Amino acid sequence: MNIERAERLQKLPPYLFQELDRLRDQVRARGVDIIDLGVGDPDQPTPPHIIEALNAAAQDPRTHKYPAYSGLSRFREVAADWYKRRFDVDLIPNQEVITLIGSKEGLAHFPLAFVNPGDVVLTPSPAYPVYKGSTILAGGVPVEMPLRKENGFLPDLAAMDSALLQKAKVMVINYPNNPTAACADLEFYERVAALAKKHEIIVVSDAAYTEMAYDGYRPPSFMQVAGAREVGIEFHSLSKTYNMTGWRIGFAVGNAQLVAGLGQVKSQIDSGAFDAVQLAGITALTASQDCVAQMNQLYAGRREVLVKGLQGLGLEVERPKATFYVWCGVPAGQTSTDFCRKLLEEAGVVSTPGVGFGSAGEGYVRFALTVDEARLQEAVDRLAGLGL
Ligand SMILES: Cc1ncc(COP(=O)(O)O)c(C=O)c1O
Repeated sequence: MNIERAERLQKLPPYLFQELDRLRDQVRARGVDIIDLGVGDPDQPTPPHIIEALNAAAQDPRTHKYPAYSGLSRFREVAADWYKRRFDVDLIPNQEVITLIGSKEGLAHFPLAFVNPGDVVLTPSPAYPVYKGSTILAGGVPVEMPLRKENGFLPDLAAMDSALLQKAKVMVINYPNNPTAACADLEFYERVAALAKKHEIIVVSDAAYTEMAYDGYRPPSFMQVAGAREVGIEFHSLSKTYNMTGWRIGFAVGNAQLVAGLGQVKSQIDSGAFDAVQLAGITALTASQDCVAQMNQLYAGRREVLVKGLQGLGLEVERPKATFYVWCGVPAGQTSTDFCRKLLEEAGVVSTPGVGFGSAGEGYVRFALTVDEARLQEAVDRLAGLGL
């Protein structure tokens, strides 16, 4: 039988990381001790009190049934309370909050609710690849907003073509940013909200990294600015904050119609997040946040080792204020893919080529701070041996 995949899959961009994954496995098979700074997945375990909450919740047979589509009422109340405490944003839990099976799930399903075939979705470049992929799967047309160093890796709103803005249905923003680690302030969010209102654009704010920040910095939420609730939805994740990437738990907040549309799509596709995981999520959001501070301290120490080390090698790197990523300029004359390949083949160090996040990511590689300081120092020492 001739099995053909749907045309929408053929429209997806090639998976640029695949080739590097293959190469990493080859290098590892040669017996090389690989230092993997590629994937943004925390290396530390979920804090014990959250695991204990899951253990207890899993013993209760009431959690074994299908969950409510929009999530446990209590989880949504706790998420709203957390937004109030953290950002001083008031939310109506049963209208403006929805539980997600990880924020990726919500981000991926969102365009199915609001993007018609041919609709333009403005996506950052470089960016977490899901924004573009989910737009294509919904039949939409992703148009890249380049994030450039000279603009602090924020989209240049003033330079955006008004005909394009007129056509755009959705704009995606993500701060603190993966992969550049750039941060946005409230003034930027105010400008986004005003632009969105003027051109009737839905704003998707991906806030997966707001809690992973250093030196006393507290990243703001798009929802804090006037008008945000009229135009926007914000996606939040417990994955990175509490080392819970495998648990699949997040939530979205914002405009009630946007939340309801996402809920309608989800009700056709999934049956909600496991109640026991939501109960553990309640513990994560309500218990002491010391574990978050401790993780941030750990990442801050690692950041110093890698940033100082890379700078010492003459590479162009800024110290990130948030996220566990270090965005590093590639030496002149090399592509990001060539540079990554060199680091892997000649030093056994895995990084991610900027171009894999979009064309405007060319010229950079991303390192994740997901190994301890000694290993990071070793990575730096190995790179020093390459004479970059
Ligand atoms: C920018 C960004 N948004 C969302 C996610 C998805 O996180 P999760 O689905 O685990 O909540 C990630 C994961 O790496 C990410 O980097």
